[in-house]
Amino acid sequence: MKATARAHTNIALIKYWGKRDEQLFLPMNNSISITLDRFYTTTSVSFREDLSADVFVLDGKEMGGHEREKISGFLNLVRRTANHQGYAVVDSLNEVPTAAGFASSASGFAALAAASTRALNFTISNEGLSILARQGSGSASRSIYGGYAEWHKGTCQDGSDSFATQILPENAWDLSVLSVMVEARQKKVLSREGMRRTVETSPFYAGWLDSLEIDLSAARDAIHKQDFEQLGTVLERNALKMHATTFGANPPFLYWTGATIDVMQVVQELRENGVLAYFTIDAGPNVKVICQPADEQVVKDRLLELECVQDIFLCHPGPGIHYLTT
Ligand code: ADP
Ligand code: DP6
Ligand code: CO
Repeated sequence: MKATARAHTNIALIKYWGKRDEQLFLPMNNSISITLDRFYTTTSVSFREDLSADVFVLDGKEMGGHEREKISGFLNLVRRTANHQGYAVVDSLNEVPTAAGFASSASGFAALAAASTRALNFTISNEGLSILARQGSGSASRSIYGGYAEWHKGTCQDGSDSFATQILPENAWDLSVLSVMVEARQKKVLSREGMRRTVETSPFYAGWLDSLEIDLSAARDAIHKQDFEQLGTVLERNALKMHATTFGANPPFLYWTGATIDVMQVVQELRENGVLAYFTIDAGPNVKVICQPADEQVVKDRLLELECVQDIFLCHPGPGIHYLTT
């Protein structure tokens, strides 16, 4: 009763920011993402008769406390869904920095959802997997698919219509995503806490929700038409709006550092010089710069001139979940 699955991270072009139901991970708004080839998680799950509790090993280290509880809580859901009793060993390797704003929770829970259901021989559709992964981390709902995906917020109270679908497969439209590392440390305000505080206290949150439909349809339309300028314009605007909501929270918070702003300014300067590049930022100081493959070297070279840039990981659209034979 063992299976191994791999899931890639995804970067949101239109952000998921805020839950309407924390228990079920139901979002306030739809979101749109690209799955990345460079960053992924590989997770093995084996259900065993001889265990008296679940075991979670991450990057070779056995995890305790809250981290283990999160995994156990998720496995309870899998056990309920697949009608199985018995504990499991979860052994996971992150080929992505953990909790640093590079979406390890997305690849982590998508891989766990796939490996745990497969270990139990439980047949499940991609939509079913997306619903399951969503309940580990919202962004994981989108990592089931390769390429471009949209997570539909859904309207049912039980979350049965809140899942992602693919917009375009990974080979349909190549874009370059430069993950610019300005800080490798784990973030101070986890996404979960950051979005909760914003929903509860920020007067700007209403503005975020009000303008979302426009961003979503512009992004969807741009992906279908493969119109890079339209997509870049809306994704950068959407990221800035998300971060603006945190400024209005109580207590207020800011994910950026000086280095984040330096990178943002270089991207805007590149555009002034005719190179189409756009940035997006998640719940952390690191920046993802998106451009067309023909420009990736120019963009990378210019960014590397910045002293604050520690590393740049060049990514392209990546695949959805797949299973590895062990
Ligand atoms: P990130 O930007 O990396 O997604 P989050 O704050 O959203 O940061 O999530 C980090 C959390 O995701 C970790 O504290 C851990 O609970 C979970 N996580 C990370 N990697 C894995 C993994 N491989 N398997 C299961 N859960 C993981
Ligand atoms: C800013 O999916 O990490 O990256 O659902 O609480 O686990 P939880 O949060 P998570 O939030 C991601 C927030 C974001 C935007 C996005 O990926 O859409
Ligand atoms: Co996350």
